[in-house]
Amino acid sequence: MNLNLEGQSVAVFGAARGIGRAIADGFVAEGCAVRGFDREKAAEFVTVGDVASYESVKSFAGEFERVDHVVFCVGIGSGKFGFPFWNLEPGDWARVLEVNLIGAVNVAHAFAPKLIESGGGSMLFLVSVAGQMGSQTDPPYSASKAALINFTQCAAKDLGPYNVRVNALAPGMVKTELNQSIWAAGQKKVPEDKRQSFDDWAAEKIKKVSHLGRWQMPDEYAAMATFLASDHAKNITGQTINIDGGTVMHS
Ligand SMILES: NC(=O)c1ccc[n+]([C@@H]2O[C@H](COP(=O)([O-])OP(=O)(O)OC[C@H]3O[C@@H](n4cnc5c(N)ncnc54)[C@H](O)[C@@H]3O)[C@@H](O)[C@H]2O)c1
Repeated sequence: MNLNLEGQSVAVFGAARGIGRAIADGFVAEGCAVRGFDREKAAEFVTVGDVASYESVKSFAGEFERVDHVVFCVGIGSGKFGFPFWNLEPGDWARVLEVNLIGAVNVAHAFAPKLIESGGGSMLFLVSVAGQMGSQTDPPYSASKAALINFTQCAAKDLGPYNVRVNALAPGMVKTELNQSIWAAGQKKVPEDKRQSFDDWAAEKIKKVSHLGRWQMPDEYAAMATFLASDHAKNITGQTINIDGGTVMHS
């Protein structure tokens, strides 16, 4: 399928590694000019900054003459494990919401005028199955993703008249560092003789949560992100698309 994205300008947040890096590479493979933003300097195309700082995000937006697509792939967990939620302190919530939710809001504020100026385009927010099911694993993480799904719909309604489409993409279980940190936080709560290796933990979890029983890989999100940016998706907006092996099904 020809996506006809050649020459388009794309901003990817969280582009240093994981799903964000795969998405940045996916747009490059389609002939786009890609600039990344991340707290880590992983490559020349990445500007270093914190999405929680509106000043940094605005200054990054100011570097673009034109932008056609914006993808927000940043996400952090609290580093603690729920089950129940009072295993965390209320103070564990602020940074997660500041990065996962306010970070995305900062990006939307800084880039919406640019997308409107370009005459149209798209915004895509990486969310999670956790935001659709009250996942107990890391309550501030789940809540941040639920709020971002809601904001996606709100932004899609506001930007629709300007031909800017806004969607959310929800991974399930992807082999990246984020999942390693969830495993590490969970193991702290388990007696030493019951602890599992990352691979054993992941194999057990994937069987429980995915009807296909296999991991998702970062390049699957790159394929969907580039498709959603293309004209083939010109009537898709305000949607949350799950690539999760069937973990979430709406009846
Ligand atoms: N990996 C999974 O199984 C999974 C599941 C569900 C949802 N997700 C979501 O997908 C997205 C990508 O996840 P991933 O697994 O690639 O994560 P990752 O941890 O591998 O990558 C996240 C990237 O965001 C950057 N980042 C973190 N905080 C930042 C900040 N304050 N400012 C700028 N950059 C920052 C990191 O440096 C990193 O490059 C996230 O939104 C995550 O919540 C992932």
